[in-house]
This record gives sequence, C-alpha cells and structure tokens, in this order.
Amino acid sequence: MSSRILSLALLAAACAQPLAPKAAPAPRTLRAAFDGAFLVGAALNAAQFSGRDTLGGAIVTAQFNAITPENALKWASLHPRPGGYDFAAANQYVAFGERHGMFIVGHTLVWHNQTPPWVFQDSSGNPVSRDTLLARLRDHIHTVVGRYRGRIKGWDVVNEALNEDGTLRSTPWLGIIGEDYIAQAFRFAHEADPAAELYYNDYSLENAPKRRGALELVRRLREQGIPIAGVGLQGHDRMDWPTPAQQDTTIAAFAALGVHVMITELDIDVLPPDQNPYPDSLPDSLQAALARRYAALFAVYRRHADAITRVTFWGVSDRDSWLNNWPVRGRTNYPLLFDRQHRPKPAFNAVIEVARHAAER
Ligand code: GLA
Repeated sequence: MSSRILSLALLAAACAQPLAPKAAPAPRTLRAAFDGAFLVGAALNAAQFSGRDTLGGAIVTAQFNAITPENALKWASLHPRPGGYDFAAANQYVAFGERHGMFIVGHTLVWHNQTPPWVFQDSSGNPVSRDTLLARLRDHIHTVVGRYRGRIKGWDVVNEALNEDGTLRSTPWLGIIGEDYIAQAFRFAHEADPAAELYYNDYSLENAPKRRGALELVRRLREQGIPIAGVGLQGHDRMDWPTPAQQDTTIAAFAALGVHVMITELDIDVLPPDQNPYPDSLPDSLQAALARRYAALFAVYRRHADAITRVTFWGVSDRDSWLNNWPVRGRTNYPLLFDRQHRPKPAFNAVIEVARHAAER
C-alpha cells in the first residue's frame, strides 16, 4: 500500500472512531434541570402574558413549564359586577400558556381577598342568604371553570380558609354558607371540568397547628368523596422560616394522605420587617446566603419528588415581586432567582446545582 493510500486509510479509520464520550452539558434552565422530578412554574403579571414585557416573557418561556396568573383569574378581576364578567386578561393568559406549551394553573376560585363586596350583599347592602350565595358561587365557578374547561389543567379552588390555629377562618363564605362552602366549591368545580385537578392552597402550613387543620380538612373532604387532587403550600418563606426539617415534615404529612403536594407561591423575603436597608443592591454576603437558603429548600423538594408535582415562584424577576410593597410599600426586595435586570442570580445557579447533584446520585 502506498504511503498516500495508507495515510488516507488511517484518516478514514480515525474519522470512523466514535468520539470519546463527553459529559452531557449541565442543563441551564430550571425546566430542564428538574425534568422528570416536577414542573417549575412562575406567577405571571399582565405585562408578561400580554407581550408588553418581552424580557420577562422570554425568561418565562425559556425557564418554566407551568404558569399561574398573579391576578387575572381572581374574582375581582373577572367578575367585578353582578352578571358582568371580563375575560380579556384571562383569555390572554390562557392563550400565552397554550402558545408556549405550559401547564396552565387557575388561581383562585374562592378567597376572602380580592372578592368584591357585592358578592355577599343584596341590593340594599344586607348579607344575602345561604342559598343566594351558593347560587352565586355555583354560577361563578361554572362560568369560569367551564369557559376554560380542558385548557386550565389545575385550579386552586379554595385559598387560605384556615387560621393559624387550624380552625376555619371567619370569612363571609363561612358566615353565610357555613362549613360546607369548601366542599360545595370543589363539587361545583368538578362538575364544570371533571378532568381538572382541584387543589386547596394556603400559607404557613409548615407550622404544626395550621398544618393539622389542613390535614383534617383534606381528610374530611376525601371522606365525603370530594375529588381533591393536591395541596398547595404557598411558600412565602423567610431566611429562617420554615426550617428544612419543617418543610420536610409538612410535605411528608400531606403526601401520606395520598394527595399531590405543590409549592405554589415561592419567594424568600430577605429584608428585616419594616426596613429597607438595601435600596441599591444586595450585599454579596446576603446574596450568597440567599443562594444557600434556596439550595436547602430545593434539596428538600427534590427529595420529595414522588409527592411534589410542581414548584412555582411568585414572580419572575425581583422587580416584579409583591414583596417590594408588602408588608410596607416601596421597599427594594430580592426574593427571586432573577435580578432586576433579568439576570440569573447566584441563587439560580444554586438551584440548578441541586438538580445536578440529584441526577448524579
Ligand atoms: C396570596 C395569594 C396570592 C397573592 C399573594 C401575594 O398568597 O394567594 O394570590 O395575592 O398572596 O401577592
């Protein structure tokens, strides 16, 4: 064989060699990082789902695979007057979700906030009867859930019905209808869309007395044959609460009842109460502490991937967060994974790392 032919043959053989296997690149999106474990979602404002906030919208479509509307499906937004529905924003929200192949969540059908006073009153301003309120509740749920039947896949049917001690919160719903308002709301939602997943959603269920109340509520609903698919732990967390152990116990307790668990409104308040110490930027030390805190929480969620179906952040970037205005207005807070310029923060990397370590095990 001539040396020329020999070198061509060697070249061909070299090309035929499979390339040395390279480590797969680590996923750089939340949705890919937790693929197979749980969905990762964000709560959207109207600017994001209408296309006005293109930078925020781009993060949503790249990073997340589930969406919740911050306000567009609340009673006050949809049904501000008797008989007067306004579906403009809700339609845009659902269309955005469908365009981008998202799991679309409905939030929320029954709540004591962001519900107009007319719902509970007659034309003279007196409280309506149980039957009237039940009829209004049925009409609202049938209209809203029915309209998006098959498109909105899961509904927060009842939001925040419990007190800190686990008893039922005193609201016009409880006062006028009585304790069965919760079961009735689930029944109406199930009639309107039998395939939709139905959830109970609340905050501070990591505290034992309130958790016991919620566990009891879920047990009672199930005994009555109410199709409750899951419980949403809102997850408006602080740097020191809940502890990973409290989070772990809480997820395990609901999972043991056989319902799905979701973290539905995750953010971490880094500011001391009533102060605004970092109007320009978050000190590096706190940025790192926030990253460690997010990693600790996600390690718990990831361990419970069998029970947890979704983790949703309450907002996309720090500039969108309600925590800039609560509990006091006009603060500069840093609760999420993307900063005010929409750049990923160290906490974003820390969360992705949790997924990578879990995948390696
Ligand atoms: C509650 C509600 C949400 C939202 C947040 C704060 O947790 O469930 O809809 O209003 O508070 O913005």
